[in-house]
Amino acid sequence: MVTINSNFLKLKAGYLFPEISRRVNAFQSENSSAKIIKLGIGDVTQPLSPAIVEAAKKGFDDMAKADSFHGYGPEQGYEFLRHAIVENDFASRGVQLDTDEIFVSDGAKCDTGNIQEIFSPLSKVAIQDPVYPVYVDTNVMAGRSGAADELGRYSGLVYMPCTEENGFKCELPTEKVDLIYLCFPNNPTGVTATKEELKVWVDYAKQNNAIILFDAAYEAFITEDHLPHSIYEIEGAKDCAIEFRSYSKNAGFTGTRCAYTVVPKALKGVSDTGEEVSLNQLWNRRQCTKFNGVSYPIQKAAQACYTPEGQAQLKELIQYYLGNAKIILEGLQGLDLKVYGGKNSPYIWFKTPDNLSSWDFFDKLLNEANIVGTPGSGFGACGEGYFRLSAFGARENVEQAIERMSKMNR
Ligand code: MLT
Repeated sequence: MVTINSNFLKLKAGYLFPEISRRVNAFQSENSSAKIIKLGIGDVTQPLSPAIVEAAKKGFDDMAKADSFHGYGPEQGYEFLRHAIVENDFASRGVQLDTDEIFVSDGAKCDTGNIQEIFSPLSKVAIQDPVYPVYVDTNVMAGRSGAADELGRYSGLVYMPCTEENGFKCELPTEKVDLIYLCFPNNPTGVTATKEELKVWVDYAKQNNAIILFDAAYEAFITEDHLPHSIYEIEGAKDCAIEFRSYSKNAGFTGTRCAYTVVPKALKGVSDTGEEVSLNQLWNRRQCTKFNGVSYPIQKAAQACYTPEGQAQLKELIQYYLGNAKIILEGLQGLDLKVYGGKNSPYIWFKTPDNLSSWDFFDKLLNEANIVGTPGSGFGACGEGYFRLSAFGARENVEQAIERMSKMNR
């Protein structure tokens, strides 16, 4: 028999969201009449905006004619989209990037999972706890950890606890690390970071020759003007940070697939033999080998996010989800729960009632109110005793969910 990559056997459980689906399917098959409301995985529910659909259709029309047909596109993305990104997402915020620092892809999940490949297997990885599980699992698969303990923490990884006491904003690592995963607005806690707070991370990374892997997939939900949308709004970040963006949550592309990663040309690493190496070139090399780009019609659709009509329609979509978040936030506060996030974020994070464990509350919510949420412990040991609801549902379901929760036994 062939020898497998045994690092996979270190992984604690199934990936969080399929595990939730498994439990929900089991419940539904035993309770076929239950009308389940799903506020678990952060999957959007509202249709694509008209400007985006129009652009995608036009893209397919181009594909239907010999003179405007497109075969393989550039692995890094079409220039029309990279240009729109540079102008609209960055120049408008005072950040100057070149189009060859943008790599269009099919998702921030893939990019945040794959980026670790360009770093040494010996790199020391720091992650926030609780955390989006992709950052952890992909490093475990790559062999950067030992076994997990009974709390699910892998030896060899550096966990940075985000707790009620520190406002879910972790302290700097106390040991030397090489890669630091940060996510703001945060998944799962919904907290945001100010420019001053990000500056502390940038300064730390520069002083310690570390790279920050900054997941900004939820930046469109920031409502407060003083909060940064990109880590590059912080001086010096181009020397120490890679940023991940996505069209999934702001434009409803979870089923359409388009995202991008920024790898500034100023970013350098060092080889085993001590030579300086461009991380931009390494990521380009990786993408050219393993990725064939996002389809032309979908990149046309993504480009439409930046037209005046597209921008107006996306604003409306984001307001819709933020309206849901407000209903959930205020609804849970009305039930005397300790609630976080939900203001600059589509996620609402709260302490479970009666000190229930996260999974016990998951079962209670599913059984008594037929609502699916995400157990905080699924995001890490520090998430135990917490729970996450997503605001990506339909309005009527969100309202129903709060009403059902208010009738639950306490
Ligand atoms: C989540 O629910 O945390 C997200 O939907 C996960 C993802 O975007 O992959």
